[in-house]
Amino acid sequence: MYETITLEKRGAVAVLTINRPDKLNALNKKVHTESVAALDELRADDAVRVLVITGSGEKSFIAGADISEFEGQTPVTQRDQFHDRTLFNVIDQFPKPVIAMVNGFCLGGGNELALACDIRMASETARFSQPEINLGIIPGGGGTQRLTNLIGEGRSMEMILTGDMIDAATAEKLGLVNHVHPADQLEAETMKLAEKIAGKAPIALQLCKEAVKIASRSNLDEGLRREVDLFAIAFSTEDKQEGVSAFLEKRKPEFKGK
Ligand code: COA
Repeated sequence: MYETITLEKRGAVAVLTINRPDKLNALNKKVHTESVAALDELRADDAVRVLVITGSGEKSFIAGADISEFEGQTPVTQRDQFHDRTLFNVIDQFPKPVIAMVNGFCLGGGNELALACDIRMASETARFSQPEINLGIIPGGGGTQRLTNLIGEGRSMEMILTGDMIDAATAEKLGLVNHVHPADQLEAETMKLAEKIAGKAPIALQLCKEAVKIASRSNLDEGLRREVDLFAIAFSTEDKQEGVSAFLEKRKPEFKGK
């Protein structure tokens, strides 16, 4: 059904793979359109509770925007392409947890895509950069904002102003990735984490995401107020009743997403 991506459902975990290995999974227009369509499909599928995004092959996660599409692009067409429903923003606003499984080059738009995810898992072979400066442009998929929110201004400035590539160990030290694993264990470790999260209460997961994201987008008073409201909404769910009853009855909860 899709040409540039594959979509696989493994129980409650969906795996979306950018599938252009001969171009190191560079993000062209078709990848954007198909991935947004896939995310809309997954959003509506109650059986899917967690999404993993990765790149095809062993060399690259995503080597950035497809540079060949920059030729002939005018400011107007470029701006039009980066409308509100960019892939980056659709991932950012996806209501279910999203994990980036970074299996190689994670550059430019690839790093921006990983930054739009909730958690980043990397292989020891992964390499990260925002190399736009080397093309005479700047990150345009949220990099200047999300990278700065995640790792701080000084570290973000250095990556963006130099365009230098950093290795996975450095990325972990900077807080750019959550965990680093040997390449042959990355998938198993990512699936273990994804399945653990998939076993939690879906509505509470969604509310957690919303609350955490507010932290970097509002001031503390506003964030604390919103958290109280979201906390109250969690009390309206059947899953809250199930979670509390299961604890009191000393059994494992069975969450239904209601
Ligand atoms: N856009 C379009 N094509 C890309 C690409 C990109 N961002 N990144 C890699 N490719 C293509 C190459 O053109 C090459 O295609 P070809 O075989 O038809 O010539 C293929 O993918 C393999 O890449 P290659 O450069 O031969 O691999 P390498 O191992 O020598 O180098 C990189 C790997 C990642 C260092 C190098 O490909 C690179 O610098 N890519 C661009 C990264 C970038 O600047 N991204 C941000 C864009 S804003």
